[in-house]
Amino acid sequence: MTAPRPGRVVIGEPELRARVTALGAEIARGYAAEPPVLVGVLQGAFLFMADLVRAMPIDLVTDFVRLESYGGGTTSSGRVRLAEDLATPLAGRDVLVVEDIVDTGRTVAALRRLLEARRPRSLRVCALCDKVGRREVDVGVDWVGFTIPNVFVVGYGFDHAGLYRNLPHVVTLEGV
Ligand code: PRP
Repeated sequence: MTAPRPGRVVIGEPELRARVTALGAEIARGYAAEPPVLVGVLQGAFLFMADLVRAMPIDLVTDFVRLESYGGGTTSSGRVRLAEDLATPLAGRDVLVVEDIVDTGRTVAALRRLLEARRPRSLRVCALCDKVGRREVDVGVDWVGFTIPNVFVVGYGFDHAGLYRNLPHVVTLEGV
């Protein structure tokens, strides 16, 4: 038996660059008045977040959360707790959650509940990838970079057992 390895390219580097640049400009137009707080969800979103903010020509604040799922098996349970919380108060602020992927939708749904309790002025969600075919919870995703099929992907923030987040493109994982 061979170990799982990165396989074929699903989203290439030039495609990622073009889409994230366009997304940044589009999102920025939605936040003309006050600097929004961008909340990156660790670890997967760190590369997307870094590229997205550089494509947004407006004043903004960045912060991060790290979530821990509990009570679940291999798929997310949707019961999340903040393993690392924000340092930024959200009351009255425009908040944009930056996710790498929305799969069942449980994580975003749970995070929305947690953050809405802090009374932001607005709370919107942007995800690099959306596996719409896997959705179990109807969560509003305001901006999506790419709709992808139900395949296991690694690279550009996505991992398998902690590896491959540093690949510059999104590729399939073969041999799982
Ligand atoms: C992934 C991803 C989302 C979540 C999506 O996180 O980053 O947060 O799963 O799944 P859902 O829509 O089914 O809830 P993961 O637990 O793999 O952590 P990571 O970001 O550190 O890789």
